[in-house]
Amino acid sequence: VKNLFLLRHGETFYNLENRIGGDSKLTDRGMAQAKALARHFRTLHLPYVFTSTKRRTLETARPIANMQDRCEIITLPEFDEIDAGQCDGMRYEDIRENMPEVARARAADKYNYVYPAGEGYATLKERVDRGIKKALYLSGNSDNIIIVGHQAVNRMILSHFLYRRTEDVPYIYIPQDRYFHIISTQNKKLFELRRY
Ligand code: F6P
Repeated sequence: VKNLFLLRHGETFYNLENRIGGDSKLTDRGMAQAKALARHFRTLHLPYVFTSTKRRTLETARPIANMQDRCEIITLPEFDEIDAGQCDGMRYEDIRENMPEVARARAADKYNYVYPAGEGYATLKERVDRGIKKALYLSGNSDNIIIVGHQAVNRMILSHFLYRRTEDVPYIYIPQDRYFHIISTQNKKLFELRRY
């Protein structure tokens, strides 16, 4: 694989309410983002689009796949968003108010913090790495692959290829109106944050 296009799903109803986790659908704006991505990538040859099992990544991937000649959507649970356990579906402000110990511990060491009955960045790493291996294997000798992921998952994928310091990883900027293009050359990997 020479080009990895790392996309985040479009805007969801949960995003508007600042809620974490869940399995929310895309808003009209999110659907428009998916269509814009589809137009943007239509001239590239993309045999596969990888997603998580969540509705928001599938709804983002479908228009992209539909605009290609032949393109298969492959759903990998390894790319599901960080499991916030007991905090799933909560807003950040609810967590600060009702579970202040969670907010405090997470702010103190976001990379190593693990949500009650859920995951943390450190524990997410192993499954995301497994997902990347699967995706690279399945895409065979294709030059281009697209992954439609989530905020925390995309941070882990970026750090997998670009070796950031772990304490910085949970703070990497992952916008919804841009995507990362990771380019593999013979001995190095470069990346660009691009608009679509
Ligand atoms: O808010 C969207 C989201 O994908 C949540 O589902 C997830 O818990 C969060 O981002 C991860 O980002 P952070 O680790 O900064 O809370």
